[in-house]
Amino acid sequence: MEVKAFYWKGDYLLLLDQRKLPQEEVWLELRDHIQVAQAIINMSVRGAPAIGCVAAYGFVLGVKRGVDPREVYEVLKSTRPTAYNLFWALDRMLSALSSGKDIEQEAQLIEREDYEANKRIGELGNELIPEGARLLTHCNTGALATAGWGTALGVIRTAHYSGKGISVWVDETRPYLQGARLTAWELLKEGVPHKLITDSTAGFLMKKGLVDLVIVGADRITAVGDVANKIGTYSLSVLAKEHGVPFYVAAPSSTFDLSTRSGEDIPIEERGEEEVKNCFGAAIAPGDTPALHLAFDVTPAENITAIITERGIIKPVNEESIQRCLS
Ligand code: MRU
Repeated sequence: MEVKAFYWKGDYLLLLDQRKLPQEEVWLELRDHIQVAQAIINMSVRGAPAIGCVAAYGFVLGVKRGVDPREVYEVLKSTRPTAYNLFWALDRMLSALSSGKDIEQEAQLIEREDYEANKRIGELGNELIPEGARLLTHCNTGALATAGWGTALGVIRTAHYSGKGISVWVDETRPYLQGARLTAWELLKEGVPHKLITDSTAGFLMKKGLVDLVIVGADRITAVGDVANKIGTYSLSVLAKEHGVPFYVAAPSSTFDLSTRSGEDIPIEERGEEEVKNCFGAAIAPGDTPALHLAFDVTPAENITAIITERGIIKPVNEESIQRCLS
């Protein structure tokens, strides 16, 4: 059965608690916008497109309870600052409401469109994947991070099912371990050949000629093509450039924030230092050691070989090619 991160049930949202994976599959019933906001903050749900879809349903739940739509919007909007899909989806919900549309149908449309965009990204991206390619990916960009199928992992899935005999290096993705816990779980379920590596292994694998391409997702893409994504993505792009390895980003058009010009202007989420100093309840550093926990970094457009969207492939990555693809 296909992996799904959430199901809309008409009067509540059923959400797979990603904090518990891969050990347990626990489903949460979210019945108002406050519970949805909490699930986004505590990362029961994560991944830019999934956050957008879930926030849209949170908006429906809040408004149906009679809460002022502006208040619902603000509560959901203040959950996480970097993933643009959150703001995109909430703005769309607010304007659907003000133009008299059925907001439940609008949220379902956002979910359906995201799934269809991922399938298309998979097909287009597959054209860039050579037979037998050894791909490297970071974080989780799969069905768990989207309405289904996935962005970068969607390309990987499509390439696998098209019989190309690909294999995947999976970065563990410190500190939340989206690669180890979630991407490995998804790939294992579908029988995609993969091997988990610590984040710091990537460079040496490239040096040894064992990586044919890097493919990652995005949380926000600016007008000039700078990409915010999970911390560690920038380092991978530098390593890929040094070793002549193509570096691809896969993301739907809903991740593009054309009102933000460059990566300098993207708000980068800083999370609690405890998430760096502890791993599943066990302390891995002295309690008094201060830690810095930036959840995302920015990869400059010049380090990106191409961006794969549902509307086409952007290559080279610059303001003009982005405008051409998205207009
Ligand atoms: O902190 P997360 O797990 O929400 O970060 C997720 C990522 O960085 C993903 O790469 C990105 O959202 C794209 S998901 C299709």
